[in-house]
Amino acid sequence: MKIFVTGGAGYIGSHVVKALGERGHDVLVYDDLSTGNEWAVLHGRMMAASLADKATLSGVMKEFMPDAVMHFAASIVVHESVAYPVKYYLNNTACTLNLIEAMLDARVGRLIFSSTAAVYGIASSPVPESAPLAPINPYGTSKMMNEIILRDTSAAYDNLFRYVSLRYFNVAGADEKGRIGQAYRNPTHLITRALKTAKGELDRLDIYGTDYPTPDGTCIRDYIHVEDLAHAHVLALDYLSGGGESTVLNCGYGHGFSVRRVIAEAKKVTGIDFKVAECGRREGDPPELVAANEKIISVLGWVPSHDDLEYIIRTAWEWERKLR
Ligand code: UFG
Repeated sequence: MKIFVTGGAGYIGSHVVKALGERGHDVLVYDDLSTGNEWAVLHGRMMAASLADKATLSGVMKEFMPDAVMHFAASIVVHESVAYPVKYYLNNTACTLNLIEAMLDARVGRLIFSSTAAVYGIASSPVPESAPLAPINPYGTSKMMNEIILRDTSAAYDNLFRYVSLRYFNVAGADEKGRIGQAYRNPTHLITRALKTAKGELDRLDIYGTDYPTPDGTCIRDYIHVEDLAHAHVLALDYLSGGGESTVLNCGYGHGFSVRRVIAEAKKVTGIDFKVAECGRREGDPPELVAANEKIISVLGWVPSHDDLEYIIRTAWEWERKLR
């Protein structure tokens, strides 16, 4: 199949491109390289362009005529979204509208959308897809707005337009062969920052908040290995191609780890007792976010292969040591 992948040079997108390439799909990556890297695109072709450029987007869509679109391109840093909400509504909400419009114009009707657990806000975990959407930061709101737009578009054009929205929990880890992994210029994610501290690139790791209503006072998250997430995309593609209805699915393992537990595991995997400091809360962080994952298991037949914090951190560490 021909698959158009926005943001395919980014961390998650590049892992999905790899999985699509391994299955013999014809991939065209569309990425503005604002946070992605051309070297991360291991299969297919890449075009450096922006989703804000409607004319280019529309032209490429009509020329390539994909069987399906996968949409990863987005701004994703929660606290940045609190400071710069307009950037998030433009890059996430408005650019997704451009993409949907280009798809409808070209009569391309299958979309796999990168959503996020941030749409739930402060929810009781494990959180099912049916939980009310109540994001507590502009990042989550921008993605929630996209989900509403997708729902309405699918309802209006059901014969043409169907989508799977995948709500990612905390994605981490790297390619087992060490070819691709997280390579953000200013990483904010816990595991990456812990490993950069172990490596000596950061002086110390700050724990953002130790007074949360959790057993050890630090936030709990559901960490999912990027290759299990990539596999969910491949299954979602098969599902839509097989005539599946539009749907929304959580992507997580169904259990979580606290910040302290992740740090302890990172110290064990690296063998380095790096410096940690306890600090105040970071704005926009919910205390606990763990997926209810029964729906993705039953709808897609998704079976995770790497539900193992040690493996997640080890692959991330092997990758991190390769980075300059
Ligand atoms: N944390 C620290 N120190 C750090 C970095 C993070 O204590 O240096 C804490 C955070 O406060 C949070 C936890 O570690 O409690 C995880 O933080 P991350 O930044 O790794 O991830 P988030 O949970 O903030 O966000 C991620 C994705 C979002 C997604 C969300 C859903 O980046 O896109 O998971 O769970 F919405």
